[in-house]
Amino acid sequence: MGKFINVRTEAEGTIGVIELNRPKRLNALNRKMIEEIAGQMEAFDNDPRIRVIVLQGNERAFAAGADIEEMMKESPLSFELADPFAIWDRFMSVNKPVIASVSGFALGGGFELALHCDLIIAAENAQFGFPEVNLGVMPGAGGTQLLTRSIGKRKALELIWLGEHISAEVALELGVINRVVAPEIMEEETMRLAGKLADQAPIAVRLIKEAVGKAEDLPLQDGLTLERKNFYLTFDSADQKEGMQAFIEKRAAHFKGE
Ligand code: CAA
Repeated sequence: MGKFINVRTEAEGTIGVIELNRPKRLNALNRKMIEEIAGQMEAFDNDPRIRVIVLQGNERAFAAGADIEEMMKESPLSFELADPFAIWDRFMSVNKPVIASVSGFALGGGFELALHCDLIIAAENAQFGFPEVNLGVMPGAGGTQLLTRSIGKRKALELIWLGEHISAEVALELGVINRVVAPEIMEEETMRLAGKLADQAPIAVRLIKEAVGKAEDLPLQDGLTLERKNFYLTFDSADQKEGMQAFIEKRAAHFKGE
């Protein structure tokens, strides 16, 4: 691993870590960087040794948005021809759990990147926001859709219209993130959460991600049908047998992802 310019990657046991690595630019996301993140995320998704993916920045910034210097040269036609935001759809196709571990700035495209993850853990110094309106533009990598689905129309409009930053505490109150931790224990807590998730039965975890992910898009009856089908499918796994046998034998289950 480690073949990228703008990200660092590492496998820590069953956890695949992707670290954004343009510190001098506060991890501003250029096209190459997004390609590298998507490519590595797919590589971890296809690697049978990996069960959970962690996406992180550094203490000062998760990512301060799309790279404004790169973006300012664009025109409607150059955007239309290259469709650079289409690559973001690939984040939606990842089957394994993805945790965003956010310290410092998560702004614009950086916030959108976190919103494409399944869980968001934030350090107390994290700041979230959509400053695009201050640049005379708007979010373009999913912000209006993902934030609104997460916190509702009025709060989303307030945040995106005003372009102000909110603290980790406020983001937690709004329900846009999962938990806030002190910066000193951020890495430890992220890996603890990832480790706990990695110990769960991988097939069940995957089928849960699919069912919960579809809950906002499907009519209720279709969602219930999908849930039922996925529940039945878990009974084709060795992990279902192990999980239930371990319960009967009053011992911890060891899941193999089979
Ligand atoms: N693009 C390019 N460069 C950026 C950047 C960005 N999004 N954010 C920060 N940088 C660069 C700065 O230009 C600066 O570079 P120099 O040292 O060469 O001057 C360096 O990173 C450090 O930044 P600051 O000196 O500005 O640091 P600060 O602590 O004073 O301020 C900040 C931090 C409030 C995050 C400020 O950098 C900022 O406002 N950044 C821009 C945030 C923004 O508008 N993001 C949205 C981008 S548009 C978008 O994301 C569209 C989309 O939907 C995909």
